[in-house]
Amino acid sequence: MASPVRWILWTLFVCFAALQNAALRVTMRDSSLEAVRGDSVLLPCSFFTSSDFSRLNVIWTLAPFSSPVSPVQVIVYDHGQVIKNPSLIGRVDFTGLPFSADIMLNETRVSDGGIYRCMVNNPPDTADPGVGELLLSVLEPPSLPVCEWDGAIDVGGSVRLSCSVEEGVPIPEIRWEKVNPEEISLPVNMEGELSGSVQIANVSSQTSGLYRCSATNVLGTENCYVNLVIYNSEAAPGGPSGVLPGVLLTLVMVLVLLALLVIILWLHRTGQDGRSRRRRRDRKAEEEECYNEIRYTPSLMKRSFV
Ligand SMILES: *[C@@H]1O[C@H](CO)[C@@H](O)[C@H](O)[C@H]1NC(C)=O
Ligand SMILES: *[C@@H]1O[C@H](CO)[C@@H](O)[C@H](O)[C@H]1NC(C)=O
Repeated sequence: MASPVRWILWTLFVCFAALQNAALRVTMRDSSLEAVRGDSVLLPCSFFTSSDFSRLNVIWTLAPFSSPVSPVQVIVYDHGQVIKNPSLIGRVDFTGLPFSADIMLNETRVSDGGIYRCMVNNPPDTADPGVGELLLSVLEPPSLPVCEWDGAIDVGGSVRLSCSVEEGVPIPEIRWEKVNPEEISLPVNMEGELSGSVQIANVSSQTSGLYRCSATNVLGTENCYVNLVIYNSEAAPGGPSGVLPGVLLTLVMVLVLLALLVIILWLHRTGQDGRSRRRRRDRKAEEEECYNEIRYTPSLMKRSFV
């Protein structure tokens, strides 16, 4: 028998059997859903029943991705009453009771992600199967990554650039690039899922520049930057920056020496002048003394004559 024919026959048989045995059947219109954090999402759960709804019972449970082995009750419909998980009050509600078991989840969070089970019972129908499963992923854009560097930024040293991101579903991809003065993409060592580093050994002045870490997932990209400046500690005396201070120092020393020379010469000159002037004054005094002697002589002579 051709397989499409077999499939049609099988479907007819199932429908017929369901009507015959008055079995309740749950169908999920989606097996997996994605929502963006903060948005609302409709979790569909349809069922077919032949009885009235007076004894309808619906239970939604969630096995969160964070703890898949311990499911929690999300919302329950029982004897006409709705009971909600206290942590979800205000965010979850049935939307189509009693004809469908669909629920709406508002202001979704990443922690809402997991496997949802919709269990429906409507006695006296027998449930076959009375359970449907649905996987919900709540996506989140990457948060702003944090860029850091450590190591030796002298020529010949080794520098490590690291980048980590806190949030993001799916897990953001971390990339490192040098963006200025030239664009180079760099090999990243992942340390866990949310942080990646780049090791740069034997750095030179060419290593200087602007580096960017980007965290990217389907919802977007966030960047952080590191500006590296490599110091050239070896090139002091011959380098162009050493010329000007050297010239200035020599100039100052020459000026000081010249000033000293001028002072010494001046002192020497004033010293000589003073001595010669004194000598001249002495000679004049001697002359005057001689003259006085001569001048007095006549009076003495006169006196002697008196
Ligand atoms: C969820 O949001 C919709 C509209 O966005 C609103 O009609 C509904 O009442 C909300 N459900 C809950 C439980 O707050
Ligand atoms: C470091 O780099 C310089 C030039 O950039 C090179 O001459 C030297 O051999 C390198 N040293 C090591 C240990 O790689």
